[in-house]
Amino acid sequence: MNAVSHKTSAISGFYRLSVSERVKKLRAFADLSDEEVSLLEAFGALDAATADRMIENVVGSYPFPLGIATNFHINGQDVLVPMALEEPSVVAAASNAARMTRKTGGFTASTTDPVMIGQIQVADIPNVRAAQEAIIAQKVNLLKFANAQDPVLVKFGGGARDLQVRLLDTMMGPMIIVHLLVDARDAMGANAVNTMCEALAPLIEELTEGKVYLRILSNLAVYRLARAEATFPAKALGGSSVIEGILKAYAFAQADPFRCATHNKGIMNGIDAVLLATGQDFRAVEAGAHTYAATREGGYQSLTHYEKTSEGDLHGTIELPLAVGLVGGATRTHPVAQLCVKILGVKTATELAQVIASVGLAQNLAALRALSQEGIQTGHMKLHARNIAVAAGAEEKEVDQVAQKMIGEKRVRFDRAQEILAELRKKKA
Ligand code: MEV
Repeated sequence: MNAVSHKTSAISGFYRLSVSERVKKLRAFADLSDEEVSLLEAFGALDAATADRMIENVVGSYPFPLGIATNFHINGQDVLVPMALEEPSVVAAASNAARMTRKTGGFTASTTDPVMIGQIQVADIPNVRAAQEAIIAQKVNLLKFANAQDPVLVKFGGGARDLQVRLLDTMMGPMIIVHLLVDARDAMGANAVNTMCEALAPLIEELTEGKVYLRILSNLAVYRLARAEATFPAKALGGSSVIEGILKAYAFAQADPFRCATHNKGIMNGIDAVLLATGQDFRAVEAGAHTYAATREGGYQSLTHYEKTSEGDLHGTIELPLAVGLVGGATRTHPVAQLCVKILGVKTATELAQVIASVGLAQNLAALRALSQEGIQTGHMKLHARNIAVAAGAEEKEVDQVAQKMIGEKRVRFDRAQEILAELRKKKA
């Protein structure tokens, strides 16, 4: 940020400008060069007009590497999994873990019905008990009214299924929280649920004589769970001592939230990458996953579980809320997201959730295996060293030499890359 600047970020009507007019303003503000402006203008696979319809104030698009995880065999089908992310080793790790399961039948995955929760917050209620009873007495009519808001969802077999009334004691007094349970079918469900909750609000106010404040979907989608399991043979893992190491790592995560945050982060490395590639709301899934992990008995827990089988192999399972959709949202508008859905070959949101859960389990197994054995730096460093070499100014033909020397010395650092580069160039001169 400039220390003293007379530039203003209060650009009125920025949203009304065309993409190229916005880029012009941005160029003046941030002193962008011609090359920098062309980076923005390139847009790539997501064209300017589509991007401009997706969010506000668009000036460009932000490309991520898109990789393909191989070897996944899920519910009897081979699947190539597109993953969008910037972190090295993740795609390779998922592919490796998936390879290990092929001889034991791959992943078996399942889902519950795609039921989302909408919350309606009611406060300032004169008689909480009477209000609660009044809502319950009208449940059938309220559900009917909710379903009238979305005849298309109902036509496709979804819609409001149930209504629950919760009493909350808060720092601002007692509240009633109405939970509307909606089967979102192949949608993520946010739009359908929020519309229904907003429509129900006046009726709930009338019944409770209270005031409705928030009407919004909950990302703790406990009724929309995805599960996956797989057996990782001891031989493929590297023997029973490796299994011992993985079980110790799992026990560490179960006993310690400091470790468990990183353990679950590793799971989300894989999950988020598929979510991003397929245009899903990855923040929603992240929020749901961690809250689910935190609301288990015993505090913040692992989303995966492991045990040794009677044959001496390792059996892993994963369970988490996975609110994903194939209709609406970026999945439909982003051309690369559409392509990724086609690559996956999934036809329903539940199939997509089953793939994602399997990737989360594979990712975690790979991380625990590497961490409890050689550590993750060896694998990480290969790509990292190349990146550092490029950052230090290595030309294409110099990158490998600089990277290999740093790896050999176990000194993968920017300053060392510069030194090696200087030595190489001196030798050549
Ligand atoms: C790094 O992005 C992810 C790991 O830290 C996960 C873990 O520690 O389990 C390797």
